[in-house]
Amino acid sequence: MAVERIGVSLEAPLLKELDDLVHEKGYASRSEALRELIRRGLVRQRVAAGGDVVGTITIVYRHDVGAVTHRILHRQHDFLGTIRATAHTHLSEETCLEVLIVEGDAKRVAELADRLRTVKGVLFAETVMARADLR
Ligand code: NI
Ligand code: NI
Repeated sequence: MAVERIGVSLEAPLLKELDDLVHEKGYASRSEALRELIRRGLVRQRVAAGGDVVGTITIVYRHDVGAVTHRILHRQHDFLGTIRATAHTHLSEETCLEVLIVEGDAKRVAELADRLRTVKGVLFAETVMARADLR
């Protein structure tokens, strides 16, 4: 892909923080760090605006609490157009980990995560959102 060079003016303290970040995180260059920060900002902006996102919802739950498995499946079926795939693994006698690969409106994805998070027996629910059109 064609790359354009731009000039960015930064105050000395901010540049120092950028260089520290490049060093700490191990970015190959300032440019690489700035690109990643810009992409992350764009995703945040997209999420805030309620546009289309892709991502994952990871949940850990106790499968032996009441009807938790039934409730989790039932709630997922209310979001047919949002869920592309799921993976499930049994962590222990009592607990399961499930990852949902999701796609669609950011607010809808957040709603699905909330619907799963609030099932009694769910111990953990975390969402990661990205944009399919990032380049
Ligand atoms: Ni099903
Ligand atoms: Ni399981």
